[in-house]
Amino acid sequence: MSNAYDEAYRRSLDDPEGYWGEIAEDVRWIKKWDRVLDSSNPPFYRWFPGAEVNTCFNALDRHVEEGRADQLALIYDSPVTGNSVRKFTYRELRDEVACFAGVLRANGVAKGDRVILYMPMVPEAVIAMLACARLGAVHSVVFGGFASNELAVRIDDAKPKVIVSASCGIEGGRIIEYMPLLDGAIDLARHKPDCCVILARPEAKAQLTPGRDIDWAEAMGKAEPADCVPVLATDPLYILYTSGTTGEPKGVIRDNGGHLVALKWSMKHIYGVDPGDVYWAASDVGWVVGHSYIVYAPLFHGCTTILYEGKPVGTPDAGAFWRVISEHKVKVMFTAPTAFRAIKREDPNGELMKTYDLSHFKYLFLAGERTDPDTLHWAEEKIGVPVIDHWWQTETGWAIAANCIGLHEFPVKPGSPSKAVPGWDVQILGPDCAPVKDGEIGAICIKLPLPPSSLPTLWNADERFKDAYLAEYPGYYKTADAGYRDEDGYLYIMSRTDDIINVAGHRLSTGGMEEVLANHPDVAECAVIGVADDLKGQLPLGFLVLKAGVEKGHAEIVSDVVGMVRDKIGPVAAFKTATVIDRLPKTRSGKILRATMQKIADNEDYKMPATIDDPVILDEIRSALEGIGYAGARRS
Ligand code: COA
Ligand code: AMP
Repeated sequence: MSNAYDEAYRRSLDDPEGYWGEIAEDVRWIKKWDRVLDSSNPPFYRWFPGAEVNTCFNALDRHVEEGRADQLALIYDSPVTGNSVRKFTYRELRDEVACFAGVLRANGVAKGDRVILYMPMVPEAVIAMLACARLGAVHSVVFGGFASNELAVRIDDAKPKVIVSASCGIEGGRIIEYMPLLDGAIDLARHKPDCCVILARPEAKAQLTPGRDIDWAEAMGKAEPADCVPVLATDPLYILYTSGTTGEPKGVIRDNGGHLVALKWSMKHIYGVDPGDVYWAASDVGWVVGHSYIVYAPLFHGCTTILYEGKPVGTPDAGAFWRVISEHKVKVMFTAPTAFRAIKREDPNGELMKTYDLSHFKYLFLAGERTDPDTLHWAEEKIGVPVIDHWWQTETGWAIAANCIGLHEFPVKPGSPSKAVPGWDVQILGPDCAPVKDGEIGAICIKLPLPPSSLPTLWNADERFKDAYLAEYPGYYKTADAGYRDEDGYLYIMSRTDDIINVAGHRLSTGGMEEVLANHPDVAECAVIGVADDLKGQLPLGFLVLKAGVEKGHAEIVSDVVGMVRDKIGPVAAFKTATVIDRLPKTRSGKILRATMQKIADNEDYKMPATIDDPVILDEIRSALEGIGYAGARRS
């Protein structure tokens, strides 16, 4: 028997314009679209061309007008600053955002200009994002765990007029001074911003650069509030850089109109929340989850969103999530499985949960990496609410596969993020670009056009967009995930088909790390692979082949490269282990056999690659790995 999900899914593929056109009525437009979908220039598709809208108006002002002025919009909960909690109603948040938009405008920011935000998890990060949206400026948030060099690369690509930052971030108990990182990045970058607005936090003094930096509080004191500026639905709202297969990140563009339509819809239909409910995504505003589900979607839907500056464990203990859920009456929470693995490890019996009232809590959503069945069962059993794995990417901006509980709640199958969400024509393709049978593993691809909110292209890089995503399977978007679909239509996401690894839900490029290692003066060749880790899912591991005649000790070289990755990419890369070997295993055509190396490190069965240059090298790899504590694998 057909259900609401089946009907929505079928209609979204049979009549995408009718389907999304109706859903789009839920948004407050300044001017309606000329047509719902412009398919005149494939493979570039645009949603709602001709429409005018303002994203900030839909996040804040409309709710003030429509009776939610005194409802909480944002709760900032920060165990790392002595349990401080700050709450903003929709009216208060609107006023703060309008005022900061005035600060940006006074500093020359106008529609289409880029603003980089390098911010910790404070309300001012949300305020600055929405202020950009208010002006039609394009924000690009850079995650605080990236080092100066990564920030500099993004400055050069986005060419921001203004950078907004803060004196520090707080990582557990450590103060991370941001000013040296920001100064270093601006020194390294060829493009220089006109000015920087710096939020001085009490935990660290901001050393302002005269003539470049202005103080957030002082500027807010003098600002004239700015109104919402109409933009085209197809204008960019933000650029979010994500790891590609080289050290050069890809600037994923999100437009205004499609993003608003899809994200607002997702709140009810995927997550099952209503306006007025409290929704918490425990992520970081520097990641896509933070953009979509800390900031935009909950506000589009009139919910109360939580901004949590803390960790799942250690701030102060593994009961932190339960405290937040109970104190703020959270209905739905979204985080990465690694957070629950961390909690499970410290409090396996869930003792810390028992003192809190979790009666408002209805669903836990997990994404960012596959939810392993152990973690799924533990969370289901201990919390007693459904645990829903769902799958998506920075590029898509919202879930490709999920158990859409607002449409129809399907039984959970461990290891699967359930079924394709309406709008996503997911196909599993073989090397011949034809769909494979149910149960067979293939490349997970999405038939074009992609639904609203997915990337229309990459910032200033149409060709790279086509090469990276569209060239290999003509007519399809390649997700670069491999997996299969079962006979009930459930998807299983098994692995990446490129060199991306997933460390604690953070997406990292091993190619980018190899570029850093290769710069060590004593390194002739190198490879980085992702090895399985109980807590973080994967961890990077480096192999170094040294130049002839190097006299420096191996331990010293390993320590150098660990420092270099931290310095060039940032602590978030979690690159802590490397080993020196005599040579790398390669095919006869010179391709490094990274997948086989990974299987050896993870103690999985592997087949001797038919094209291997010299099989003996794999024994050398195994003993090098054993030397640093990794078990040798079985060869089949
Ligand atoms: N600014 C500066 N440094 C940061 C940072 C930030 N915003 N975020 C992380 N780092 C640093 C960490 O302090 C750590 O540094 P260290 O090597 O000196 O200890 C390093 O980057 C690695 O961070 P992380 O991988 O997050 O490890 P962790 O040990 O600090 O915490 C978890 C592990 C599992 C508790 C944590 O990763 C977590 O809560 N993850 C789940 C939620 C999540 O954010 N998912 C992302 C997408 S949904
Ligand atoms: P990001 O762009 O950082 O969101 O990372 C996207 C990648 O993370 C995907 O391509 C997957 O490889 C992985 N991923 C995200 N969510 C899931 C999930 N629920 N199951 C399996 N892999 C996931």
